[in-house]
Parts: sequence; C-alpha cells; structure tokens
Amino acid sequence: MTDKSHSLDKIVSLCKRRGFIFQSSEIYGGFGAVYDYGPLGIALKNNISNLWWRSMTQLHENIVGLDSGILMHPKIWEASGHISEFHDPLVDCKQCKARYKADELSDDNPDSVDWSAIQCPKCGTTGKMTNPRQFNLMFKTQIGPVEDEGSIAYLRPETAQGIYVNYLLVQGSLRLKVPFGIAQIGKAFRNEIVARNFIFRTREFEQMEMQYFVKPGTDDEEMQAWKNERLNFYTNSLGIDKEKIRFHQHGEGELAHYAKEAWDIEYEFPFGWSEIEGIHNRTDFDLKRHQEYSGKNMQYSDQVANEKYFPYIIETSAGLNRMLLTVLADAYWEDTENNRTVMKLHPKLAPVKAVVCPLTKKDGLPELARKITDDLKTHYKVIYDQQGSIGKRYYRQDEAGTPFGITIDHQSLEDNTVTLRSRDTQNQERISFDSLIEKIDDCIHKY
Ligand code: GAP
Repeated sequence: MTDKSHSLDKIVSLCKRRGFIFQSSEIYGGFGAVYDYGPLGIALKNNISNLWWRSMTQLHENIVGLDSGILMHPKIWEASGHISEFHDPLVDCKQCKARYKADELSDDNPDSVDWSAIQCPKCGTTGKMTNPRQFNLMFKTQIGPVEDEGSIAYLRPETAQGIYVNYLLVQGSLRLKVPFGIAQIGKAFRNEIVARNFIFRTREFEQMEMQYFVKPGTDDEEMQAWKNERLNFYTNSLGIDKEKIRFHQHGEGELAHYAKEAWDIEYEFPFGWSEIEGIHNRTDFDLKRHQEYSGKNMQYSDQVANEKYFPYIIETSAGLNRMLLTVLADAYWEDTENNRTVMKLHPKLAPVKAVVCPLTKKDGLPELARKITDDLKTHYKVIYDQQGSIGKRYYRQDEAGTPFGITIDHQSLEDNTVTLRSRDTQNQERISFDSLIEKIDDCIHKY
C-alpha cells in the first residue's frame, strides 16, 4: 500500500533537507514571507519557467517576449488603478495587537460587519476589533538622494503594466497584427499582510504573464480558447493530476477593478483548493487609462481595414512559485510499502536526470563511473555519487526527484553494461553504455 496523504509541513521539510527551498535570512531568525531557492529549487523553477516560455513564445508564432523594469514611472500605477484600488481591508485587535485581513474573520462585506461583535481568534477578546482600514499592498521606495513626493517609486505588484506601456513599441518593431501576445517572466512584490502556506503567498514572487491583444468582439471566444489552453498546460505539460485541478469563476464581488470576466485555475493543495493562475478579460481598461494619464496614443492601427481601436486584452497570469509548489505537492509520494519518500516529478522537470554510482570505491569502478558521468553531462544534468550504501544513495535521489539511477559494478568492466534503475518502480534493467542516452530519452518522452 502506498500513502499519498501528506501535509505541507512534510513538503517544507523535504525542501529544506534536499536543497529545494530555504527560509530567507534563516541565520537571523528568518525574514517573513520571503524564500530562497537552493540548487534543486532553482533548477526545478528554471525547468518550469522554460516550459512556460516555450509554450508561449515558441509554440505560438504570434506571441513574443519582453523583459521590462521592476521600477517604472509612478504614474503607471495611478493609471492602472493600483494606487487607488489595490488595497486589503485590515482590522486590528486593540487587546493583543493581532492584525487580520477582514475576510479572514468574516465573509461578509467589511462595511456591513459589526466589528465590535467579532472575537479575536488569537486572544479570544470580543469588543476590541477596530473598524477596517484600507492598506495598500504596493511597496514604496524612493529614487535618488532626496526624500520628497517627487522621488517616490513602487516595486511593481504585477508584470502586466510593463507590457501595456510597451505594447505599441513591441507591435511596431515586429509589425505584429492583432491578435498577438506579449509574454513576460519577472519578479513582482506585494506587501501581503497575511503571508502563509510556505511559498504560496509571499511578499516577493515571480509572475509569468501573457497579455493577448484581440479585436473587441472576439474577446469572449479568445477567453474560452485561453482557458482551455492553460488548463491543458497543467495536465499535459506539467503532468498534474486532473482530479486536483479545476476552474473557479470570479463572482461580482471578487472581480478585480479591471476585469470584465475572470477565472482562476485552482489546485487542491494540502491546505485546500487555491488559485495558481488567473485568466482575465481586462477589456480595454488599461490601454485607455494609459492614454488618459500619459497623453500618448495607445490605439492600435489596423492598416488593412484602415481603422484604429483599443484592443481588448485577455491575460493569463500565473505565479511561478505557486506553480512550483503545485508541482512539488503533486509529486510528493510516501511509498510506505518501500519505506521511502519520493518526489515523483515528471522526468523532464526533474532538476537532476540521473545519479551515477560506482558500486564500490575500488577496482576501477569510480573511474568508469566518472567517465560515464562525463559522457552524460553534455546531454543532461547528472551527478556522481559514491557516498554510502547504494540503497541510501538511491533513496536520497528519490527524495530529490531524480528519475534514473545508473550503477556501475564489476560486470560493467567486463561487458560494458550498467544497471538502470527507475525511481518510480525501482525496477532495474541491464543495458549497454552505448544505449543509455537513447533509453533515457525514450523514458522521458514516454513518461
Ligand atoms: N496581472 C494580474 C494579476 O497579477 P493576480 O490574480 O493578482 O493577477 C496572478 O495574480 C498570479 O500571481 C496568482 O494566480 C498567483 O499565482 C500569483 N501571485 C499573486 N500574489 C502572489 C503572492 N503574494 N505570492 C505568490 N504568488 C502570487
């Protein structure tokens, strides 16, 4: 019997133990809601973001990439509505000073709640809650040496605005015609009040956003097409369990200030169903606002039809860190039958593809294992390991998600064969050195 039930704590501890993810500034007691990615974490994160980038900019001829600045003109955030709208209502307990997002304590509209009747979950006191205050989630910083109103800048809370303000430059430089898309991967920052659930909600994170510029009137159809495509990405490209993924449509009260229609892709995490990606019909809201605030033309000019218009924008907005957490949570497997924990990552995502192990440290086996490692490393990330028993070496790599184990034994010296072990089944087969790459490629392809 295998046990697939797990808690977030077990994943967190595996991530630290194996070098996927660490709490930021740990030697200073940690720094709230910021995480650092270790050797396996950054490799897995890169593999995921490369897959997303390929799915957007390589598999679609009409989607191109961009890398805009984190710091941008502060007027952009006035135009986008983030200065006036990007707030969380907060309430404080005057007794114990605990601070909550209003929706943690009540599902009702915060303005209609009688906060004096609400009990503080931390200290248990009733009657000491303040009324909600609006708290802007953007991080403010200052440009230049003089602190005054004119020097304020913000760390971007979404990468999308960098795409909107550049869209005519990108379109003109490549002579793109509507519909076309611009994709971007980059850091975003939000001063989250309640940051929890490991890397799910953090103050510094990465977004992978694609803005698709379409002719008004075709937006509903394009929205549907992107919903399908994005869901397929999770189940087909990342290999996420279909039963654990679903859509959630935003109701009236949930819609962001810019959206006409919005859908979340949700995953069933150990802490419940939660959003990994948002797909939004942002209409022409952002482009019109940038025209209004900048005074510059933001209309697309259709030379063939001889018309100008503001395209509608269908946005697909995924958090890279949340996608990584989804991949880890989905892959985590307690194989109780064999008393081991396995990160059953899709081999194409696995940070290390194979571990090469000489059975013993003598008789020329390490030299041969080194040679095989050198041959393989131009094809994949592989590691050499001669520390400890072969069983322990394999179990370490099972936790790291390494799909293949290659062992060099005395027979290898005689007939140029090795054993190839599968992480998932633990089956071992004997194959020749020469067929290793073909075999591994085939297993990755068919997984
Ligand atoms: N441009 C639209 C936008 O930013 P959003 O729903 O606020 O929409 C999109 O964010 C995605 O960014 C989310 O689905 C999530 O994956 C990720 N995200 C947002 N806030 C985050 C946070 N504090 N920590 C980690 N990821 C976050």
